[in-house]
Amino acid sequence: MGQPFGSYQNEIYFNGLGGILPSYPMAFAELEERASAALPPSVWSYVAGGAGDERTQRANVTAFDHWGLVPRMFVGAAQRDLSVDLFGLKLPSPVFMAPIGVLGLCAQDGHGDLATARAAARTGVPMVASTLAVDPLEEVAAEFGDTPGLFQLYTPTDRDLAASLVHRAEQAGYKAIVVTLDTWITGWRPRDLSTANFPQLRGHCLANYTTDPVFRSRLTRTPEEDPQSAVLLWTQLFGNPLTWDDLPWLRSLTDLPLIIKGISHPEDVRRAKDGGVDAVYCSNHGGRQANGGLPALDTLPSVVEAADGLPVLFDSGVRTGADIVKALALGATAVGIGRPYAYGLALGGTDGIVHVLRSLLAETDLIMAVDGYPTLADLTREALQRVV
Ligand SMILES: Cc1cc2nc3c(=O)[nH]c(=O)nc-3n(C[C@H](O)[C@H](O)[C@H](O)COP(=O)(O)O)c2cc1C
Repeated sequence: MGQPFGSYQNEIYFNGLGGILPSYPMAFAELEERASAALPPSVWSYVAGGAGDERTQRANVTAFDHWGLVPRMFVGAAQRDLSVDLFGLKLPSPVFMAPIGVLGLCAQDGHGDLATARAAARTGVPMVASTLAVDPLEEVAAEFGDTPGLFQLYTPTDRDLAASLVHRAEQAGYKAIVVTLDTWITGWRPRDLSTANFPQLRGHCLANYTTDPVFRSRLTRTPEEDPQSAVLLWTQLFGNPLTWDDLPWLRSLTDLPLIIKGISHPEDVRRAKDGGVDAVYCSNHGGRQANGGLPALDTLPSVVEAADGLPVLFDSGVRTGADIVKALALGATAVGIGRPYAYGLALGGTDGIVHVLRSLLAETDLIMAVDGYPTLADLTREALQRVV
């Protein structure tokens, strides 16, 4: 085993002896505040905003306060093992970067997808690369190093285009396909509506489409010659309101592990399992899609129960290492980081993301050390108490 994740704090304290302070924030509130100043206002409101009055988005975060970890002593948790086997992928930690469709725009050089892939290479934390990207999925994959990457598919209405995107991801070496189900239509987002700003309509983050042979074959003039027509075609193809009848087709597209994202109901888990998916991904899209919902964390236990051994990925509202520990104890196999890494990207590119991920992993590791839960297997529902 290499250096424990918690050793990041030693690095910081020892640097302090030489008068060097951390370049990036240590607390989420400061990270958020500095990112809000660093990003152009339209990008900031797109990333930070959510659906309706953002109650569900806030509840995703506060839901973690309703659980507390119970410390155990005389455990001697000198070594912690955070490694996880996710449908055959051996990962050093149960943490991954959730797909974020405007990463490209969050980076100061406009290439945030590449910067994120480089952060995955440096940390071993996999990136789930979104369909909506400034750089094509092949160029993103080329930056992964030894860290496995996952490709997130927004299923277009054009089935040939869907197949082409999946096959390109296979060719480029992605290790799993994540199909997002909750975003075939955009939720009501007052922050973006008030500035009438939707990045893709302005031609941003469409590289995976404009480089795709099937997409290009549907145009009379190339996207380079006529970008407006490409955007128009994209609006016509983007969202596919899938039904259960489409699952066998999705499953037939690839032999890679298939994960479906946006699952909150146990009955949906059971049907997905019957349909041959390899994992379910419990998430409410960070409260960006539908307001008035339950916090994602509150839907996790019943999803885990229905999954009955099938891996469960989870995101929405994770801001600290303590949140990661709680989601794991409630049964998540792997926990997705969303906005925090986008904010790290905004502040410092790859270095900013690496700092955010290392901080989250260090806190997770140190909580497991202090509270006497040395392995993920020790982190069960019994480790938690509900705080009313
Ligand atoms: C700006 C932004 C863009 C997103 N784009 C995508 C996307 O392209 N595909 C997807 O499946 N989820 C997308 N999501 C949702 C994330 O994968 C994840 O579910 C969410 O960020 C979790 O909530 P949190 O960031 O509040 O923790 C996006 C989220 C944000 C904040």
